[in-house]
Amino acid sequence: MSDTGTPHDAPGGSETPPHGAPGRSEDETPAISLRGVNREFRRPRTSLTSAPAVVHAVRDVTLDIRPGERFGLVGESGSGKSTLLRMMSGLDRPTSGEIHIEGQPIQDSSARRLGWLRRRLQLVFQDPMSSLDPRMRIREIISEPLVAQGIPRGSKVDDLLERVGLSTDAALRFPHQFSGGQRQRISVARALAPDPHILIADEPVSALDVSVRAQVLNLIDEVVDGFELTLVFVSHDLSVVRHVCDRVAVMRAGEIVEIGPTEQLYQDPQHPYTQQLLASVPRLSEALAGRTAAELAERTRAALAGEGATDEAAALRLAEEGARADAGIDGGAGLRAEDVRHDRHEDEGGTIA
Ligand SMILES: Nc1ncnc2c1ncn2[C@@H]1O[C@H](COP(=O)(O)OP(=O)(O)OP(=O)(O)O)[C@@H](O)[C@H]1O
Ligand SMILES: [Mg+2]
Repeated sequence: MSDTGTPHDAPGGSETPPHGAPGRSEDETPAISLRGVNREFRRPRTSLTSAPAVVHAVRDVTLDIRPGERFGLVGESGSGKSTLLRMMSGLDRPTSGEIHIEGQPIQDSSARRLGWLRRRLQLVFQDPMSSLDPRMRIREIISEPLVAQGIPRGSKVDDLLERVGLSTDAALRFPHQFSGGQRQRISVARALAPDPHILIADEPVSALDVSVRAQVLNLIDEVVDGFELTLVFVSHDLSVVRHVCDRVAVMRAGEIVEIGPTEQLYQDPQHPYTQQLLASVPRLSEALAGRTAAELAERTRAALAGEGATDEAAALRLAEEGARADAGIDGGAGLRAEDVRHDRHEDEGGTIA
């Protein structure tokens, strides 16, 4: 971690990449740089005579993400968001094009370079249950990335658990003993363990109940600030991206069709596809749009401190109602958690799901 942990390591020693080691001050060097990146998948032939179908999942993406930026990627299902993230993370290779992380090319990386990359860049996925090994205790899960780097097991686990809002007792338990939101906190703790610079989150709250979503978003918001991370955040839910990102790219059929500062893109969308996506954002998301996660967290804390909220869920509801009222949406005071859930499910089943 940036304040108490080991300093961020440069890829030094025997691992020094040929282009020199970028430090933490690489203001000019993008955290992530893509040039003409394409990814094609060949689908199996459907008959002996047919040519194999080619899916062009990512088309000619050129993009720079600055250090410390919170970058959002939105687009409908199948638009290529995850494929792009997998390539940025070294989990997949582009068919053509170049990818640099902190100035280092990764598209043809050796295992050693990928080891360096794993310390710099960590991922959080949508479904915490399937990304956490059910047979491992939380202590092992969180310290796994540390052990891989030769850092003593358990040395940071308690600290990381506290940073993500879990008690240190959690270390000895198994994933199934936690709720979905808690499991996602554990995933975040594991991602933070190697002290990365870059956090890549692929739909990190989409599988969570809406009452927990804001809490996990708040957590991501806090750790990105506290650990001075660069964030790449994917969601099909535009209101979620608006909470956490300061720049957004809209993907459609593998291409980035629009990119810009979050507020500008939401207030004045240029591309018809972006306009269509925004038109599908439901009423509640509208109400919460423009409310940053930090603001919601502050409202939640205020509701807990004041009268009217007996627990965190009630406080969150009050915070959301307040945000909605401020956004000028009628009927905010009467909104119940069930209504919120209903709104979201409609969203998920709609055109942007
Ligand atoms: N390993 C693969 N083999 C074949 N096709 C693939 C593979 N991975 C992705 N695709 C195809 O590439 C396209 C983009 O998929 P991708 O998973 O990147 O979309 P996405 O935007 O993340 O969608 P979602 O919102 O549903 O997660 C889709 O047509 C998908 O079927
Ligand atoms: Mg995806």
